[in-house]
Amino acid sequence: MTELETLEAVLHRRHSCRAFRPDPVPDDVIARITLAAGRAPSWCNAQPWQVIVTRRAETDRFRARLYATATAQSSQPDLDWPKRYDGVYQDRRRACGFQLYDAVGIAKGDRVASMQQMLENYRLFGAPHVALVTSEADLGTYGVMDCGGFIALWTIAATAAGVASVPQAAVAAFAPLLRAEFGIPAHRHILCAIAFGYADTAAPVNQFRTDRAALTDVLTMVGDA
Ligand SMILES: Cc1cc2nc3c(=O)[nH]c(=O)nc-3n(C[C@H](O)[C@H](O)[C@H](O)COP(=O)(O)O)c2cc1C
Repeated sequence: MTELETLEAVLHRRHSCRAFRPDPVPDDVIARITLAAGRAPSWCNAQPWQVIVTRRAETDRFRARLYATATAQSSQPDLDWPKRYDGVYQDRRRACGFQLYDAVGIAKGDRVASMQQMLENYRLFGAPHVALVTSEADLGTYGVMDCGGFIALWTIAATAAGVASVPQAAVAAFAPLLRAEFGIPAHRHILCAIAFGYADTAAPVNQFRTDRAALTDVLTMVGDA
């Protein structure tokens, strides 16, 4: 196998996991994943990412607070939410939503069941850990871009370590709670959470895989071949 083939195998195995076993991930594995993700490039090598990870008992305590807040209060994210998903973005958003609902047997238009599934975000999908990723506010959009690379690498390194994960903007929506719970200062923007642990591979919600756009929709080559 070439190095690229090895990497492609990991990239294709990675997916967003939404049901976990309760057993925790050892601290040294979490450290190794985080160090590997820190190899991400960043503008001026600023490395604006910082990560707060809860161990299992703390995750359970936080999960209860998060669920109570999310079901009682309106969201207040640090970053602007996407303005809209139009055209192809709307199509892709719908397609992955329907895949999720199909996997768990939610009929199209069943708003109660889809709301319940959405609220699973605030149970962290049963994960034994959550990582909260923050960036330095002064670094602005490029700091967020750097952290996006870090988050992607974190999930890929986790996959290579046998650890399943799901990035969650839904959790970052409750920034004031996260700030108060974990002492996150105002100059750190809360970008997203990553719930992680070992996958419950038999859970229906983990049985689908999302599609990707065709290469022709992504890549434009310029100049003579
Ligand atoms: C920044 C970011 C935020 C996300 N937020 C959520 C979320 O709040 N809840 C959720 O279930 N999935 C969330 N996801 C996962 C996406 O839905 C998922 O990556 C996408 O559908 C592609 O599927 P895959 O990760 O299985 O390949 C998020 C992903 C990213 C990168």
